[in-house]
Amino acid sequence: MKQSLENVRLTEWATGAGCAAKMCSRDLSEILASLPKSQDPNLLVGLETSDDAGVYKISDDLALVDTVDFFPPMVDDPFHFGQIAAANALSDVYAMGARPVTALNLVGFPVDDLDGQVLQEIIRGSKSKLDEAGVALVGGHSIVDKEVKYGLSITGLVDPAKAVTNGGAKTGDSLIFTKPIGVGIINTAVKRGGADPAMVTAAIASMTQLNKAASECMLDAGVQACTDVTGFGLLGHAQEMAKASGVSLELDHTAIFTVPGSLELCADGFKPGGLENNRLSFADVVNISPEISGAFEDLLFDPQTSGGLLIAVAEKAAVGLLEKINGAQEMQASIIGRVTPGNDCAPLVTVS
Ligand code: CO
Ligand code: CO
Ligand code: CO
Repeated sequence: MKQSLENVRLTEWATGAGCAAKMCSRDLSEILASLPKSQDPNLLVGLETSDDAGVYKISDDLALVDTVDFFPPMVDDPFHFGQIAAANALSDVYAMGARPVTALNLVGFPVDDLDGQVLQEIIRGSKSKLDEAGVALVGGHSIVDKEVKYGLSITGLVDPAKAVTNGGAKTGDSLIFTKPIGVGIINTAVKRGGADPAMVTAAIASMTQLNKAASECMLDAGVQACTDVTGFGLLGHAQEMAKASGVSLELDHTAIFTVPGSLELCADGFKPGGLENNRLSFADVVNISPEISGAFEDLLFDPQTSGGLLIAVAEKAAVGLLEKINGAQEMQASIIGRVTPGNDCAPLVTVS
């Protein structure tokens, strides 16, 4: 008997959950390190810098921005899963300051065990977000799989001179972050049946929110560097920005929002496997004040699905940008820290 749309619990069809299923950063770097680098002069941003998307120059004022993201479900409702997958995939293009234009579906689906209507709902949810973003769904590829997996490859356009990378943060810049952290913890609790409905609603509201308005606002404000925060957690992506920019980041933990319920669930032991991988990968390059609680420290490493944009912008433009972002959408953006000079001995990210 196939499981129907009415009684499907999507997270039962996955071993991992969302971006927490990502391969660990260390493993990935080891695997990719020895591969030959591309010699194509038009490849402006490639694998080397841990940026969110590749940038490929077509002409002097036009470049393609290419990215792909897919994962097993982190929520039980197929429509929401589709919305989250689309918001998450689009986010890499928004982080690069580009305009997404086309999308391709990537599908793994247990078609013998699960009703096709479930997949229809996933794609319907995804399409609703692509419509909101003004992006055309142009096709896709599906394989039969034991687990449900879904995601998208997104192509965007940008003026190569205006592409935003994670490598442009300057000493003195302010750091804005646009979403609360902790959705990985909530998603883990969902999978184990431990999250209450209000927490799940809050996490879904955050994960389905597009980073579109935040991206447009940051471009107007003269953004220096940006990345979106996903599987490697806030600290993982922050240290990538610090490394790529040759600076250090100082974060104020009291300015970082958390999804309601995530600290409590974390203290109760609902931790995604990816959280410990992130701690192992990044603990050496970050410094967290001992005054910060264990649960909050965990959240700093929590793998986010469809997380916020981490934006470095000149200090004098930061408050104006923050107001614009929070005014454009019901965003929970805040100024979470600042950029300081980098040096070989200092940690890449300090949290106090
Ligand atoms: Co990204
Ligand atoms: Co990505
Ligand atoms: Co094909």
